[in-house]
Amino acid sequence: MRKTNISFYLNGELIERQLDPESRVLDLLRDLLWLTGTKEGCGDGDCGACTITLGYPINNKIKYQAVNSCLLPVGKLQGTSIITIEGIEKENNDLNIIQEAMVEQHGLQCGFCSPGVSMNMFSLLANDEIPSYNDMIIALNGNICRCTGYEGIRNAAKQVLTYLNETPNYDVVPKKIRNIEANLLKMKTDILVDDYLLPNNINSLKTIIKENPEAMIICGCSDISARRHITKESLNKVIDVSRINEMTKIELTRDGLSIGAATSLTDIINNSLCSKNVSALCEGLKEIAAIQVRNLATLAGNIANASPIADGVVLLMALSAKLIIVNKDCKKEILLKDFYKGYKKTVLEEGDVIEKIIIPTSSFNKEYHMEKTAKRNAVDIATVNSCAAFEKDGDKIVKVEIAFGGIAETVKLETLDLNRDIEILARDISLKYNPLSDVRGSSSYRAKLIKNHIIKHFAFINGEL
Ligand code: FES
Ligand code: FES
Repeated sequence: MRKTNISFYLNGELIERQLDPESRVLDLLRDLLWLTGTKEGCGDGDCGACTITLGYPINNKIKYQAVNSCLLPVGKLQGTSIITIEGIEKENNDLNIIQEAMVEQHGLQCGFCSPGVSMNMFSLLANDEIPSYNDMIIALNGNICRCTGYEGIRNAAKQVLTYLNETPNYDVVPKKIRNIEANLLKMKTDILVDDYLLPNNINSLKTIIKENPEAMIICGCSDISARRHITKESLNKVIDVSRINEMTKIELTRDGLSIGAATSLTDIINNSLCSKNVSALCEGLKEIAAIQVRNLATLAGNIANASPIADGVVLLMALSAKLIIVNKDCKKEILLKDFYKGYKKTVLEEGDVIEKIIIPTSSFNKEYHMEKTAKRNAVDIATVNSCAAFEKDGDKIVKVEIAFGGIAETVKLETLDLNRDIEILARDISLKYNPLSDVRGSSSYRAKLIKNHIIKHFAFINGEL
């Protein structure tokens, strides 16, 4: 990929350089800028050692979020402010209260994970509201520490929160970083030349598609970056749709709940329209990866990636979601259950972009239950996952649909025959799809999981869980 002129702030200093936009921010920091405080552990979004803070203008304010720099392509830095562990010390070179608490509470030994842990806490505290202790601990579930044990880290989080609650005027963000926020709000956020195209509105996207129909569409990059870490493949030309204004909105329309395809999983989880109308979606999305990944990843990425085990697809299929797809001069609509043509194959054609996901109003009144069998609850790929949608008439269940992942080449939606017994229903589904055997589980294990998931869904709806 050709180098592109990219402008961003790093620890309060403006950087304007010709950079390789598809390279990783982690490598830029460590190898080019010699900021080696940010560490590399897994290289694919699992350990949190590379966590940095990304500040980006939203509604005339800077919103700070934790991201994994190993998953972040340099092109995404245009018009942002990034903060690394080297940038959080206070004015007189004093430790930030987060670093102080980590030291005082014995939250570090070898220190390899500590920059990532500290930056994750910093990202949460850099925004207006002081999070609860529980939120802080949940946010830290994507940070692995192999030597200290988590007690010291948890105590450090407690110490920081106590201090902030007692000292409301203390700002964890150093002045030099706060001072550039006004400039950041005026910075250019799009890239319209070279090979990493980053449009910020739908008209600009359509023009770019017309001129570059062969370009690959990317958004959160959480999956493609993890894949490239293994394959080392180079991307020729990409269109990054994560900044398209119209695609980051969540609205209630005549058709139902419309979720812009570039909305991050975190923004869906925290959106009041989503939690009010489809709380099962918000709860289910919390099971996907860790906060650093959810801050970037999108449902549309989960859909277009066409994994047969995608948690987001399982949830959306049970919710009877449909997709609005745009191209340079047309718009089309398709039910998610009709979107897949086979393993990793979708109906998307050259230049097609998923613009919105619509959850119909008729889905709001159903009851849902998500089940995921994996080695870890979150931050793991499921062996089998499923989401059941129960339609009731009064207390009577009149229809049950279950979307299953991990049993066939695509996620499958099954309508259960309520006159049959669970044992037979599970056997029929297993015979129909003949689940594969792989490192996560054998075919017979998956067949058992199908039955166990159905039992658990009914136990939930019958109030037995
Ligand atoms: Fe492990 Fe980035 S290096 S998440
Ligand atoms: Fe060593 Fe966490 S302090 S890995």
